[in-house]
Amino acid sequence: MLNIYLIGFMGSGKSTIGKNISEDLSLSFLDTDKEIEERNCLSINDIFNKKGEAFFRQEEQEIVNKIINLENIIIATGGGLPCFNNNIDLLNKYGCTIYLKCDKKLLYNRLLADKKNRPLIKDFNHKELQEYINNLLTKREKHYKKSKHTIICKDLDTNKLLRQINSLILTR
Ligand code: S3P
Repeated sequence: MLNIYLIGFMGSGKSTIGKNISEDLSLSFLDTDKEIEERNCLSINDIFNKKGEAFFRQEEQEIVNKIINLENIIIATGGGLPCFNNNIDLLNKYGCTIYLKCDKKLLYNRLLADKKNRPLIKDFNHKELQEYINNLLTKREKHYKKSKHTIICKDLDTNKLLRQINSLILTR
């Protein structure tokens, strides 16, 4: 089976959902952020602080070039990964991409509760976070929309989402 790539904005649930699906289907799971943290022995926050975003994006590109050669893996991609260096085109060429589409309000609520480990948003107040999500999502959607499949994540019904993704994977 070709790899399955979960695509979407920060807070769209790629890692949580990816882990669950991989357990359901007894497949391996990989998280591109975790790979980059391990390669550099640094947290994502520290990589941004010490080495900068450009370095992080280069790391993402290297990870993409590595993982497209693998098979049978469910992969959670970082929220910006599909939007740089034509990464989304490569992922589409070699695997099955699924965009977990969440609306701005859902993203805002989730990210407000969990922003401290995300260097791009950790220092924002409520209003800044809201504006950031609005602007960045508008810019990034054109990349996310290139995914082969889109799943609308309206609520937190993880079981429903898992069933949808499982059936997408199994009917391929
Ligand atoms: C980023 C999203 C993060 C992580 C990094 C940059 C982004 O991943 O890769 O903080 O540019 O949107 P998650 O989407 O898993 O939070």
